[in-house]
This record gives sequence, C-alpha cells and structure tokens, in this order.
Amino acid sequence: MIDYRVDGDGIAVVTWNVPGSPVNTLNDAATTAYVAAVDKALADPAVKGIVVTSAKSDFIAGADINDFLADRSVAGLEAGSRAINRVFRRLETAGKPMVAAINGTALGGGLELALACHYRIAADSPKTRIGLPEVTLGILPGAGGTQRLPRLIGVRAAVPLLVEGTRLPVADALKLGILHAVVPAAELLHKAKAWILAGGKAEQPWDRKGFRVPGGNPGDPGVQEFLSVVIAKVHERTAGNYPAPINILSCVYEGMSSPIEVGTDIESRYFGVTAATVQAENLIRSGFLALNDARKLKRRPAGVPKAEFRKVGVLGAGLMGSGIAYACAKAGLDTVLLDREPAMAERGKVHSDKLLTREVERGKLDAAGREATLARITPTVDYAALTGCDIVIEAVFEQRDIKAEATHRTAEATGPDILFASNTSTLPISGLAEHWPRPDNFIGLHFFSPVHRMALVEVIRGRQTSETCLAQALDFVARIGKTPVVVNDSRGFFTSRVFATYFEEGMALLAEGVNPALIENAGRQTGMPLGPLAVADEVALDLVHKIIVQTRADLGPSYTPPVSAPVIELFVEKLGRVGKKAGKGFYDYADGQRRLWPGLAEHFPRAARQPDVGSVKRRLLHIQSVEAARCLAEGVVESTTDADVASLLGWGFPAWAGGVLSYVDTIGVDRFVAECEALAASVGPRYAPPDILKRLVGTGTQLRAAGR
Ligand code: CAA
Repeated sequence: MIDYRVDGDGIAVVTWNVPGSPVNTLNDAATTAYVAAVDKALADPAVKGIVVTSAKSDFIAGADINDFLADRSVAGLEAGSRAINRVFRRLETAGKPMVAAINGTALGGGLELALACHYRIAADSPKTRIGLPEVTLGILPGAGGTQRLPRLIGVRAAVPLLVEGTRLPVADALKLGILHAVVPAAELLHKAKAWILAGGKAEQPWDRKGFRVPGGNPGDPGVQEFLSVVIAKVHERTAGNYPAPINILSCVYEGMSSPIEVGTDIESRYFGVTAATVQAENLIRSGFLALNDARKLKRRPAGVPKAEFRKVGVLGAGLMGSGIAYACAKAGLDTVLLDREPAMAERGKVHSDKLLTREVERGKLDAAGREATLARITPTVDYAALTGCDIVIEAVFEQRDIKAEATHRTAEATGPDILFASNTSTLPISGLAEHWPRPDNFIGLHFFSPVHRMALVEVIRGRQTSETCLAQALDFVARIGKTPVVVNDSRGFFTSRVFATYFEEGMALLAEGVNPALIENAGRQTGMPLGPLAVADEVALDLVHKIIVQTRADLGPSYTPPVSAPVIELFVEKLGRVGKKAGKGFYDYADGQRRLWPGLAEHFPRAARQPDVGSVKRRLLHIQSVEAARCLAEGVVESTTDADVASLLGWGFPAWAGGVLSYVDTIGVDRFVAECEALAASVGPRYAPPDILKRLVGTGTQLRAAGR
C-alpha cells in the first residue's frame, strides 16, 4: 500500500500504491500507513529528508469519496477533517524536509498532502491536473486546502480556484506558484532528492515570523471589495442552491488573519456542516458515483462479448445525423454519412469541418488531426457504401414511412446481422423494428442536440431487442465517449417525456395569468439551465405541436393532450411564433438578444394575485419528478439512478438535487407526496403522486432505497 525505502543518500522515498483501486485515495488504511511511513523516516536519524510519490499513473486523487457517504453526521465528518488536519500539520512541523514528487494528477486531499510538504515538484505531462475540486462534490477542501492555498499564492489567486474547483495543467500550477518546479518525468525523483541534498529546508512560508497571507488583510478595503464581488457572483450562479462555495469563502475570510492551526480548525468546522448537507450527498452519489457507473457500463448485460466497431453508417445528414457522424469520426471510426441528395450529405460533413476547425483555432487539435478526422467521413447517397458497417444509425426525418424505407434499403446493403439503431425521439422503437429483418438486432439510440456537447445517449430497448444487441449498443455508446442510460420502449421514452413536463408547466402557468418574467426567473432559480418558456422556444413549438397531432392520430380518443396544448396551438396555428429558430416564440430574438415578447400580456392577461416565487419553483420541479416516478412505476426506467443520470445529462436537471428522482428524497418522500397531493387538488390531476411514492409515506424509506 505504502512502500518505504531509504536510499544510499539517506532520502526516504514513500510511495503510494493503494491496492484494488486504479487511483490512490486517502482512505483510512492508506493514510494510517502513510503517516506510519513518514514517522519512521522522522525517527530514523540516518534519514535526511522524505520524498512522497506514487507508483500509479496519478499521484493521489484525494479522499476516498465513498467515505463521505458512510458517516453522514456533522460531528463525524468534522472529526475526520480535524484528524487529517492535525496530522498534516504535525508532519509539516516535524523538522525534516518533505518533497511531494507529483508524478501525475493530484486532486483534493492529494494536493493538500502536497501543500503540507515543503517543496512540490511535478513531472511534465499534458494529462496531469492539479487542483482542489471539492466544491464540485458539494464539499470543501478539508485537509488544509482553504488555508494553505491562500497562504501560498495569495487570496486573489486562490479564491477562484477554490470556489470553481479548477483543475490546472502543471504549467499553470507552476506559474501560480503552487508548484516549485516542473521537470521531465524521468528526472522527477532525482530532482526531488536533489532539492533535499542541496539543503532544502523543512520550512513553510506561513511559519516565518511576521508572515501575512498575501492580499489577506481583513481590514483592507480592497480585500473586502474583492470578496464581496466573489460572493455576489457565487450567489448569482448558484441561486443559494449550493452551500459549499460560500462556506469556502468563509473559511478563507475567517482563517486568513489567524495562525494556521486556527485556520484549519475553522476549516474542519465548515467541512462538517458542508459535507453533511443533502446537496453534498447528491453531488457525490449522483454527480460523481452514478455518472461514473453509467459511463463505465457497470450495468451492461454480463456474458456478451465486447463488440468492436470500425465502420459506422449514419442515415440522414441533418442536424442530428451530422452531429452523430462527427462524434463517430472523432472517436476514430470510419463513418459513412448518407443522405438523399449529394449536397445534403456534403453539408453534413461541413458540420464536422466547422467543429474541427474551431478546435484547431482554440489549439485543442492540430491541422493533421483535423484532416485525419474529416477523412474518416464519407458523404454519399449510395446505400452500397454501407457494406461492411458494424452498426447503422438512422437519423432521417421523423416520419414512419421515410424511416421504413431507409431501414429496408440498409438491410439490402448490409444484411440483417449488424446492429441497426434509430435516433427517433418520438416514434416507438418496437414498431420501427418491424422493418428490420431481425428485430432482435434493432435498438433506439436517442442522441441529444448539439451532439458534440451532449454526453447522454438514451438507449431504448424495443420489445424484441436482444440482450446481445443491448450490450453491444452500450459498447458502441461508450466507444464514442458518450454515457448511456437504458430505457424501455414507450411514448416519448423517458427523457423527452419528463423534460416536456417542465416547459408544459411553464405554459400552464402562463395560461393561468402568471407573470412570464416570474415563471422564467423561478425556473432559473431552481437551477434549471433555462426558464421553461425559453426551453420551449429552443425545442421549437412546431415540433411539440407535431408530436401532439401524431399522438392524437395514433391513440384516438384515449389520448389526453398536455395541459399546454391550447397555448402551443395558439402559437403555432394562429401566431406563427414557433420558437428561437424562427426568431420569435415566447421571446423575441433580435440582435443576438432574447427578450420576452411583449404580446404575451395581451394573450395571457395577468392574474390579479401572483404566486410567490417559491411556489412556482416547486411546481416546475415537482411536475418533473412526479412524471419520472410514473416512468419508474411503469418500468420505462428501471432504477432511480438511471432516471437521475438521464436528467442530469439529458436536460440539466439541477445537480444539487441529485437528479429528478433523488429530488424526491431531497425534499423527503412524505413532504413531496403531501405537496403533490395538494397541487393535484388545486392545479390538476397531473400532480397526483403514483402509488410507488404513496406506499413509502410514513415508512421512513427513501425512494432511492425502495426504487427498483
Ligand atoms: N474516491 C473514490 N474513488 C475514486 C476517487 C476518489 N477520490 N477518484 C477516482 N475514483 C475511482 C473512480 O470512481 C473510478 O472507479 P471505478 O474503477 O469503479 O470506475 C476509478 O477511481 C478510476 O477513476 P476514473 O475512471 O475517473 O479515472 P480517470 O483516469 O479518468 O480520472 C481522476 C482519474 C482524475 C482522479 C478522476 O477519477 C477524478 O477526478 N476523481 C475525483 C477527484 C476528486 O474529486 N477528489 C477530491 C476528493 S474529496 C477530498 O479530497 C476532500 C478532502 O479535502 C480530503
């Protein structure tokens, strides 16, 4: 776990190598072994100094994140931080020079351990990242980071890194003074030892007489002004949903005029209360662990050999098809991009050209990389070009007959044994699968726009989709660097169905006479990326209108249109304001600006009594979660985690709530059900909570624990 060796020059090399994990974490056993190794070096008079490094490709990834879920008490979490703070302080003041030889990424507690060393030297690698990303987990650096970083590089440089959780390349960390040196990897240990042998001192700047935190005099009006601007920005960004960044600022402010021991005690106090919040639990459980599991296909059907992909076909070179082709080519796959018209197919390739050119301009790709990626895309109108594809993804117009024709023609070219996927967002998969000779090899792969930015792919299992097809489709999604969530076939699948409730509710509020600015502000204050009316404009009202018409035709009298249908019909049929793509919808889009359309007041007269913002926020979030719970009850999604991941990646459901079903536990099941029942009575039956929730009331069981 921790290797200890003393070389002929009297340098102890302490090497982290935590077994059973791809990364080193400061779990209890590893930390205890580390401290024992350093103590051994301190006690050995033959040892002149200590070099800390790692045998893995990364240095140390921080605390073991799972440990924060084990004991959720404020006292327990505070005690953990206090213990590590005391031990780092003891080692830093024990009198022997310590060098962190940072061979790879050092994050969180890993960097904090290094900050408690007297010298930090890193191997030069473009992959290495240095930072304190705790804020992204809803917690704060609890091993001295909020105290040592400002003391080392000054308050003004440290605060943005702490509140944003920035992961710096080594060159930037060097420039800021977090690192003392960056050297070629092969020289790392040698240079680390050389610093000690050249007389490197066991001293920290903050222990020098008369030390003051740079830019950290609390009486200085410049400092006050700087911090108040940061506080205002944090509030604007987080709308009070995330306590961690504000608590980090409190640690810095309260600690900066105190001795470091006092500062780290302050930090431990804030660490306890911050790490115990439900937001921290949600960000750790869903934002980190569940996303990691989804990305790594932890629930892929076992026993199916991993599929390899070399050549992909994409049918339809519109917005989605060309985005999918780009993602495939970027992942190194030969990509055939087929459309009816040669010019359309070519235009689809131009989409990739534009994205790649932008990457070159930003220095993220070289010209040769751009050329190589572009060369992988073959635009064509000839189905014969699909021969040899391992998978074909259909992204043609959302019309059954057009899709059916494209499916038949592909089968003629490729034979029936390859995977065939439809990117439909509206048509049930099982029906489309009938057009493929082997419906067991047919699956839905629902990408999101813009494809190059959106990580999620909703993988839709049709009635006949085989486990092999599912497993291999998951392999494909992972191969192109996206994150899959598996859902079962149904109308609107999961993502579109639940997300739609958000903007439909916005329209319902508008129709009730609620001030549109209030609706939009409330939406943003929940942490959703856009207000519901702005979202409706982005999605395009004519598309939503078309889905309503299609569903009405499919289902007949049993269909209940969404509550927003009259508003959508008004906007599409009478006003011709279909959304952002037309330059007009609920908003006017002129000069790159978005302004609520003044005509809204005429069509939706304001109600005399306006609701408070809290109740609008509640409606906008509750409606999504109640619909998601229905999807869970119906088996559209199979777990609360799948629902959470789909909502976080698919439509930006607020991460503080952990995703659309963790939100129910965040509120508390009893309260959520009671509030939904009240809304069902006052607003409409769409809020009626399903039995899957009602059964839990009074049991003290979380949905997360009870969900399938
Ligand atoms: N705790 C527990 N598990 C961790 C972990 C951590 N800090 N960091 C990574 N892992 C796990 C991952 O979950 C993953 O698990 P599986 O093998 O089960 O999939 C495995 O290690 C490998 O991780 P990645 O797949 O992410 O590997 P990567 O090479 O792509 O990235 C990494 C490596 C950059 C370190 C990335 O894992 C990462 O960003 N980790 C989180 C770092 C972090 O947030 N640290 C702060 C921790 S909190 C803290 O330190 C508080 C404090 O003040 C003491």
